[in-house]
Amino acid sequence: MALKNSATCYGSVSRFLHWSVVTLFAFQYLSAAIMTHLARDKTLLGLSQGDLYNWHKSIGLVLLTLALARLTWRKATPLPDWAPVLSKTERAISHRNETLLYGCMFLLPLSGYLFVMAGNFGVKLFGLVNLPNPIGKQEGLALLALIVHIVTSYAAVVFIAWHVGLGLKHHCYDRDGFLNRMLPFRQP
Ligand code: HEM
Ligand code: HEM
Repeated sequence: MALKNSATCYGSVSRFLHWSVVTLFAFQYLSAAIMTHLARDKTLLGLSQGDLYNWHKSIGLVLLTLALARLTWRKATPLPDWAPVLSKTERAISHRNETLLYGCMFLLPLSGYLFVMAGNFGVKLFGLVNLPNPIGKQEGLALLALIVHIVTSYAAVVFIAWHVGLGLKHHCYDRDGFLNRMLPFRQP
């Protein structure tokens, strides 16, 4: 499979970036659900609440770099043409939805980072290095960033649900092979 996208097909770099983001997003929701419910003195699979927070923050920052890589790659190699099986309305909604998904891919890590820095909680990247705090404690900003983080995380679920629902509806119900455009090692 070619590295770059062609007129009909996503290339391997786009597919790799897409599925890396999907996997790490799943980790973010799972880690968030556990870390916000686990008692401070309890562990899960040997991980304390603090470890889970650190993994959530570190993977979140990896996601920010992946989002940047994705946007850069998208600018460098044109997207394939719309899948012929999508109706005009589905194309119009998908276009809006993909823009919103990109917004979430940036807003989630940025608001999370702002929250922990303005709240002075910090980030120990993968438990190894304490990142410097360039903004210092600012309680108002921390609260605003937290609200944005939480609201965006719920909004992203809605956008992802539409995106996944459309893909599954075409692939499994209409049986038109739509997902083959993005699934690894498949040709449309
Ligand atoms: C795409 C990346 C990210 C996703 C999808 C994500 C998702 C979430 C979700 C779903 C929650 C739970 C919200 C709730 O309370 O209902 C959460 C909480 C949290 N996130 Fe993230 N997050 C991301 C990146 C980050 C980053 C980069 C940081 C910090 C550097 C961060 C720090 C936090 C913290 C500290 C909380 C707990 C807030 C609290 O105590 O209520 N997140 N995140
Ligand atoms: C975190 C979850 C997800 C995000 C943020 C996301 C984001 C995106 C974005 C922005 C695109 C546009 C192409 C690009 O810029 O790379 C895209 C394309 C695509 N995604 Fe996802 N996606 C997610 C999950 C999924 C899942 C779970 C599936 C499969 C069930 C899926 C199937 C597809 C397909 C088939 C395309 C190509 C659509 C076309 O033919 O134009 N996505 N995705």
